[in-house]
Amino acid sequence: MYRYDQHDHQIIKERIAQYRDQVRRRLADELTEEEFLPLRLQNGLYMQRHAYMLRVAVPYGMLSSTQMRKFAHIARKYDRGYGHFTTRQNIQYNWINLEDTPTILEELASVEMHAIQTSGNCMRNITSDEFAGVAADEIIDPRPYAEILRQWTTFHPEFAYLPRKFKIAINGSKEDRAAIAVHDIGLTVVHNEQGEVGFKVMVGGGMGRTPILGSVIREFLPWQHVMTYLEAILRIYNQHGRRDNKYKARIKILVKAIGADVFAAQVEAEWADIKDGPATLTEAELQRVAAYFTAPAYAVLPAVDAEFEQHKADNKAFANWIKRNVKPHKVAGYASVVLSLKKPGVPPGDATADQIDFVADLADRYSFAELRVTHEQNLVLSDVQQSQLFALWQEAKAHGLATPNVGLLTDMICCPGGDFCSLANAKSIPIALDITDRFNDLDYLHDIGDLELNISGCINACGHHHVGNIGILGVDKDGSEFYQVSIGGAQGNNSAIGKIIGPSFSAGQMPEVMERIIQVYLRDRIDAERFIDTAQRIGIAPFKEYVYATTIKTLEHHGEDAGTVVSY
Ligand code: HEM
Ligand code: SF4
Repeated sequence: MYRYDQHDHQIIKERIAQYRDQVRRRLADELTEEEFLPLRLQNGLYMQRHAYMLRVAVPYGMLSSTQMRKFAHIARKYDRGYGHFTTRQNIQYNWINLEDTPTILEELASVEMHAIQTSGNCMRNITSDEFAGVAADEIIDPRPYAEILRQWTTFHPEFAYLPRKFKIAINGSKEDRAAIAVHDIGLTVVHNEQGEVGFKVMVGGGMGRTPILGSVIREFLPWQHVMTYLEAILRIYNQHGRRDNKYKARIKILVKAIGADVFAAQVEAEWADIKDGPATLTEAELQRVAAYFTAPAYAVLPAVDAEFEQHKADNKAFANWIKRNVKPHKVAGYASVVLSLKKPGVPPGDATADQIDFVADLADRYSFAELRVTHEQNLVLSDVQQSQLFALWQEAKAHGLATPNVGLLTDMICCPGGDFCSLANAKSIPIALDITDRFNDLDYLHDIGDLELNISGCINACGHHHVGNIGILGVDKDGSEFYQVSIGGAQGNNSAIGKIIGPSFSAGQMPEVMERIIQVYLRDRIDAERFIDTAQRIGIAPFKEYVYATTIKTLEHHGEDAGTVVSY
């Protein structure tokens, strides 16, 4: 993986020194909170409901075990013993003291990490497929390009004050696992007919109050031009993006307003001026960066390990875990393992310091000391020998990291909601926990099969509810928390925005609402049809009809009377 050079170390060090002085001045009241706000945000520090929150970037989701251990250390020493992995390959700490932040940033810098540009109207962390470099369906390893883009975007002087935040995702596999359609720019690494490498470029995707899927503005961009072309996109956005209204400031609004064709033509015209300029990528520079991403020392192994196959045949629980949490690898005899952070009683994406340390340890022993953060808020050991999967499974299970639910209903995305976030209209974590409790039967979950449930506590859509097969959005009605449900959203290759099924529900009604939605699916599915395929085939009407047909029971521990009618 990428290692900082002297220049990287130097700029991060200088930035921390500058920030340390800003914090000192704030604590001495030489800076007002208002003056300090943009300074702290530039360093990833937010103020939330109860405390400061620090967001740290994991570039394209790749981590060394050393970096992971540092996360555990920070959680233990400066937070309340846990961290929260987000959908854009960041970790967030929710209980940070301002005084500690410069030292935390120093600790992070010692393992080549930082929180710069994890907030503000700038280019944010570059995200990618969690299986980049190892996926069996990979066309081209996107990591060298992701790293080049990371270097290009960090501290880019022209794009430090964009109309709004800007998110870039890059995918190099057949399957899109980076949600590129809901990013400001989504890049797919492809070959053209001549076998040359380049990018399919999508722009104008995003969620929030106006969810829009990105449009393809160029089918093939030769790799040498990735920075100049992106520069042209950003220039058009920087000039014409709306600065008068925060809610209409994202590039998606501009692209929608003028049309993708017109936008593309403007980009091409702008690009003509800078194409072949100094930011053109050279073979030498690509090779320099690509050298950091050479394959680890894989053993030569048979494609199938007999003992592993035997364990699968003998042990149903192990077989279930393999089926859901273990993914094919491009090297014979290896696999990638998803460690699920979703289980009863734990907010999706949360990991304790002990678990983080333990995962670092697993990475050392089973996966060349490397791991990944997924956009589904899970962790990945990318290079595990098939013959070691059984031993790994037993260890992961003993530490609560082997729930065999990857891609199933309880492997949900969920934002921190009203428990932490000051922008929330409703809590989202208790909804996630109640649904996890309600669907605690693994056989039932496996029978339901692939299903993406996404929950957000407000319209900002951090929990990706728009693109959940089932989406739950927390809304405020006269000071009370309610939940709006949508169906038919999807992320990945066939991205779609879900449709709202009707009036919202109280928190206590949500597990039963989910149950009814699932019943309609099980009733109407044809053969092994996935939930999303059934939903897209039959539309929302049958769900709507059944969910609202009769009174919905509520959970008693929410303090509501059982038998309450559907709330409007
Ligand atoms: C308390 C912590 C958080 C705060 C204050 C926060 C704040 C925000 C805000 C203000 C937006 C809307 C941006 C816009 O209007 O364009 C947003 C969107 C988003 N956030 Fe968060 N967020 C938090 C936690 C999270 C977490 C935990 C995740 C991952 C689960 C996440 C992932 C996202 C994503 C993916 C979007 C949507 C971006 C888009 O529109 O394309 N955030 N967040
Ligand atoms: S969706 Fe809303 S409530 Fe949830 S984290 Fe984002 S801003 Fe906060």
